[in-house]
Amino acid sequence: MEDYDVIIIGAGISGINAAYRLQSQFPKLRYAILETREDLGGTWDLFKYPGIRSDSDLFTFGFAWHPWDSDNPIAHGHSIVSYLKSAAAKYGITDHILFKHRVVGVDWSSVDNNWSLSVDCEKTSKMLSARFLVFGTGYYDYNTPLQTEIPGLDQFQGQIVHPQFWPEELDYTGKKVVIIGSGATAITLLPSMADKAAHVTMLQRSPSYILSLPNRTASWLGSIIPTSLHRRLQRIRFLYISRYFFLFCQSFPNFSRWLLGQSMSRQLPKNISSDPHFKPRYNPWDQRLCVCPDGDFFKSLHTGRANVKTDTIRTITSSGMELNSGDKLDADIIVTATGLRLQLAGAISLCVDGVPLHAPDKFTWRGVMLQDLPNAAFLLGYVNASWTLGADASSQFICRLLGEMNERGVKAAVPRMEIETAKQMVPRRLLNLNSTYVLKAQDSFPKAGDQGPWKPRDNYFDDIKFAKSRGALEGLEFLGEKKML
Ligand SMILES: Cc1cc2nc3c(=O)[nH]c(=O)nc-3n(C[C@H](O)[C@H](O)[C@H](O)COP(=O)(O)OP(=O)(O)OC[C@H]3O[C@@H](n4cnc5c(N)ncnc54)[C@H](O)[C@@H]3O)c2cc1C
Ligand SMILES: *[C@@H]1O[C@H](CO)[C@@H](O)[C@H](O)[C@H]1NC(C)=O
Ligand SMILES: *[C@@H]1O[C@H](CO)[C@@H](O)[C@H](O)[C@H]1NC(C)=O
Ligand SMILES: *[C@@H]1O[C@H](CO)[C@@H](O)[C@H](O)[C@H]1NC(C)=O
Ligand SMILES: *[C@@H]1O[C@H](CO)[C@@H](O)[C@H](O)[C@H]1NC(C)=O
Ligand SMILES: *[C@@H]1O[C@H](CO)[C@@H](O)[C@H](O)[C@H]1NC(C)=O
Ligand SMILES: *[C@@H]1O[C@H](CO)[C@@H](O)[C@H](O)[C@H]1NC(C)=O
Repeated sequence: MEDYDVIIIGAGISGINAAYRLQSQFPKLRYAILETREDLGGTWDLFKYPGIRSDSDLFTFGFAWHPWDSDNPIAHGHSIVSYLKSAAAKYGITDHILFKHRVVGVDWSSVDNNWSLSVDCEKTSKMLSARFLVFGTGYYDYNTPLQTEIPGLDQFQGQIVHPQFWPEELDYTGKKVVIIGSGATAITLLPSMADKAAHVTMLQRSPSYILSLPNRTASWLGSIIPTSLHRRLQRIRFLYISRYFFLFCQSFPNFSRWLLGQSMSRQLPKNISSDPHFKPRYNPWDQRLCVCPDGDFFKSLHTGRANVKTDTIRTITSSGMELNSGDKLDADIIVTATGLRLQLAGAISLCVDGVPLHAPDKFTWRGVMLQDLPNAAFLLGYVNASWTLGADASSQFICRLLGEMNERGVKAAVPRMEIETAKQMVPRRLLNLNSTYVLKAQDSFPKAGDQGPWKPRDNYFDDIKFAKSRGALEGLEFLGEKKML
C-alpha cells in the first residue's frame, strides 16, 4: 500500500492548480495526482473537434500563479494543453502525476481515519491510501455524452459524430454538415467547419446569446510597464469586467437583452433575421453566455456556406432530416452537439466504513465538501465565470482547512447537518444555470441548500475571502486527535 497525505484525483486544470496550492503551502506534504488518461489536461486533452477553444478569457481561466502569457484572451485547445503542461513542469507537479491510474472506489475508515482507494492501472489493480482526498474529476461523464432522443437517427446513411469523440481523421471537405445544438460547442464548430465543408447548418431548438469578443488585448500600457505587472493587471481587469457584466445583466435583464440582441443583429447578413434565430427565450446569464472570437460565427454566416435554422426534427431520413415546419435539410454528416452528461466524482463509488454514500441525497457544504463525507473536497468551478476561479477558491480553502486541522490536532473534518436544520432546508441547484444539461442532471448531482454554509457559492471575491480568512467553520465537525501533517 502506498501512503500519501493527500491524493488528488484528476490532472486537469483544477487538479494541477490544487497541487500547486498544496505544495507551496505545505512543502513537506506527500501527495500524488492520479489520472486515468495518458496525459494531463483533462477536458482539453479529451476534446478534439475542429476549432476547439475556450469561451472564457485565459487571463482568468489560467492560473493566478502562472499568468497566461499571450495577448489573445481566447485560446485553442492545443494552446491550453501546452500552457498547462509548461505550468505543471515548471513547478515540478508533473513528477507527482501517476498516469493510467483510474480510481474505481474509495472507502473512508473511521478507525484508521484515512481513505483507501482501489485503483485500476493498465493491467493490474492496486490499493493506495491517503488522509485527505481532493476530487479534481471535473463535472461530466468522460465516456457517455448526454443522450437525447433524435427520432429516426438510426436511418441515417451518412456519418454521425459527437463532439466529445471526434474522429480526428474525419474529412468533411465538400460535405454537407448539420450541427444539432446551439451551445458553445455548436457555435465553435459552425465557423470552423464552414471553411472546408460545402455547407454547414446549425439546427437549434432555441437560440442562445452570442457575444463577439476581440481576440486581442494588446494595449499601449503593455509597452511601457513590465510584462509581469501587465499580465497581473489584465487578470484583475477581466475579473472585474466579467463580474460587473454579470451583475449588470442580472440587474437590468430587459436592457441587457436588448443590448445583446442589438449587437447580434448588427453582425448578421441581410438575409438572416434575428427573429427567431437570435432571440433567446431566457435572460442573459440564465444560461451560460456563448462568446465568439472576433465575431467569427457571424462572419461565417456572410459567406453563404453557413446558416442557422430554428426548428425541431420530425425525423432523420437516410440522407438528412425532415423538420416539424415541413422543411428538409440534406446532410452527409450530422454532428450531435447536444451536450455533456453531468457527473460528480468521476464515477467513483464513495463509501464510509464500507457503506455506500449516495451523493444526490446529500448537500454540499460551501460548494466544496459533501455532507457526511470526511476529509474529501471537490474542485468545482463557476459556471458563470471562469471555472478555474471557483476551483482555485476551493483549493485555497482546502489549504486553510488542512492548516487548521493541523493546529487543532485533529485527524478528520466532516460536514454535518443537524436534524432541525435538515427539516427546514430547501434544496437548490448546485450549478446555477437553466441549461438543459444542468436540468437533466438534477437527480444525479448533490444538492445545495438555501441557508448557512449549505448555500451554493456566489462569486470569486467572496469565496476567496472566506478561503483565506479564519472565520467560523459552521457545520464542520472535527474528529480524532492527532496531528494531520
Ligand atoms: C468543450 C468544453 C469547453 C469548455 N470551455 C470552458 C471555458 O472556456 N471556460 C470555462 O470556465 N469552462 C469551460 N469548460 C468547462 C471545463 O470543463 C472546465 O473549465 C475545466 O476544463 C475543467 O477542469 P477540471 O480539471 O475541473 O476537469 P477536467 O478537465 O474534466 O479534468 C478531470 C480529470 O480527471 C480525470 N478523472 C476523472 N475521473 C477519474 C478517475 N475515476 N480516476 C482518475 N482520474 C479521473 C479525467 O481523466 C480528467 O483528466 C469547458 C468544457 C468543455 C467540455
Ligand atoms: C486568437 O488570436 C491568437 C493570436 O493571434 C491566435 O493564435 C488564436 O488562434 C486566436 N484564437 C481563436 C480562437 O481564434
Ligand atoms: C491508513 O491506515 C492504515 C491502517 O492503520 C495504515 O496502514 C496506513 O498507513 C494509513 N495510511 C495513511 C496515509 O496514513
Ligand atoms: C421586461 O420585459 C418584460 C417582457 O417584455 C415585461 O413584461 C417587463 O415588464 C419588463 N420589465 C421592466 C422592468 O421593464
Ligand atoms: C431559471 O428559470 C426559472 C423559472 O423557469 C427562473 O425562476 C430562474 O430565475 C431562472 N434562472 C436561473 C439562473 O435559475
Ligand atoms: C444569403 O445571401 C447569400 C449571398 O448574398 C447566399 O449565398 C446565402 O445562401 C443566403 N442565405 C440564406 C439563408 O438565404
Ligand atoms: C453566478 O450566479 C450566482 C447565482 O445566480 C450569483 O449569485 C453569482 O454572483 C454569480 N457569480 C459570478 C461570479 O458572477
